[in-house]
Order: sequence, then structure tokens, then C-alpha cells
Amino acid sequence: MVTKVIAHRGSKGTAPENTLISFREALEVGSDGIELDVHLSKDNFPVVIHDETIDRTTNGSGLVCDFTVEELQQFDAGGWFHNRFKGEKIPTLEEVLVFLTESNFSGVLNIELKTDKNEYKGIEMMVLELVASLKPQYPIIYSSFNYATLERLLEINPEAEYALLFNEKNRNFMTLNESIPVKGWHTGLKTLTSVLKMKNNIPLRVWTVNTTILLSYCFRKKVDSVITDFPKKALHVRRLVQG
Ligand code: G3P
Ligand code: MG
Repeated sequence: MVTKVIAHRGSKGTAPENTLISFREALEVGSDGIELDVHLSKDNFPVVIHDETIDRTTNGSGLVCDFTVEELQQFDAGGWFHNRFKGEKIPTLEEVLVFLTESNFSGVLNIELKTDKNEYKGIEMMVLELVASLKPQYPIIYSSFNYATLERLLEINPEAEYALLFNEKNRNFMTLNESIPVKGWHTGLKTLTSVLKMKNNIPLRVWTVNTTILLSYCFRKKVDSVITDFPKKALHVRRLVQG
């Protein structure tokens, strides 16, 4: 079994996270998958950005939920990373799904619903309906740190694939796993060793694995996937460790 390399927010280490150029770069280096984060705009469109505010990753300021999509897309989401990325926009989830389809993407897409601080009422239905309407050919895994979100997703579509997202601040994942039937565990690095000791058959995807030492460790342990900011480097290390 070969460990999959999933590009975290696209190729976050080499391009502005959660933008189309970051996803394109992830595809170009041959990533097996892409992870992205979703919030809701003021006019209830799922948009792809990591934080609750636009301050860190655009030239604007304020809460994502206080702007319509049209307003959000006026901001520059690339220049903060490097001048050559000026002009990148905050993409809608629809734009990313269509982009991946048009790129003949056949890897796995991990959609993380960022409902940890703002519940974004209705986001689960909106995301599932959008995906259903676009019928992507690639597999999708939904994850969230907010287990109420996972429960709502499961209620709406029990057939889709869900993963429990956790880190050291969220150690109750083991008991929760019994009540939420998930097909994957997305563990932070700090909980990795305790999870590896559990030896269950749930596919393990580890975030955020960036250094050669940690990548090698995960490849030797043959975890299902590493979620990394540096997919090109991770693929190189994988070749050295797993052949
Ligand atoms: O989904 C894995 C990872 O992205 C979770 O943390 O904060 O980078 O979204 P974060
Ligand atoms: Mg994420």
C-alpha cells in the first residue's frame, strides 16, 4: 500500500493557500489529493479560505461571513504570499470543484468544513447540495473539527465519506468515533503516536507533515495519507522510502 500525498490547502508551502493557483500547483507536481477549507459568505455561498477572517490571507479585513461572494472576490488573495501571485481571488467551492473536473482530477478531495468557531447554519446542506449538483467524478472526503457538523452531514447523506478531524486539544475523538460512523481519522502530529498504538483498521491521514524526518516516519508506518504543505517534496521522500 502506497501512502497518498494530499496537498494541504493546495501546495500551501509554495503558493498562496486555498487559491486556484495553489490547487493547480498541487496537481502539477502529481499530488494524490487536495485538502481545502470551507466557510460561508454573507449571501450563503461556500467559499474556500482557512480563517474566519480575511485578514491574514488577503489585502482586506473583516469576517468572511460579513461579505458577499462578490465583495470577497474584490480582495487580493495572492499578493500577501508573493508579488507574483497578485490577482488571485478567494475561490468559491463551486469554482474549485469545476476547476478540478476540468483538470481531469482523479485524486481525492478533502473538504474541511470550518465550523469550529462559527456554525454557519445550513452549511452542511449547501455543501452537499452543491457537490450533488456538480457530480464530480473524483472521490470526496468531508471532515470537520466540529462533530455536530459531521452528524448533520451524515443525517443528510449517510452514503458520503466522512472523517473525524482531531488533535491534542480534542482527545475525546475515540469515544465520539463510536457514535459517528466515519471511514477515516485525520490526526494532528501530536496525537499520531497514541493513535498508531491503537492498531485499528480505520485509514489514518496525518496533518500537517512537512519535514523530511516526519514524512519518512509516516511513510515507514504506511499511514493511509499525509496531508502536507509541500506535496512535491513529500512525493520525493515517498519515492525514497516506499519506492
Ligand atoms: O484537514 C487537516 C488540517 O487542514 C486541519 O487543520 O487548521 O490546517 O485546517 P487546519
Ligand atoms: Mg484544513
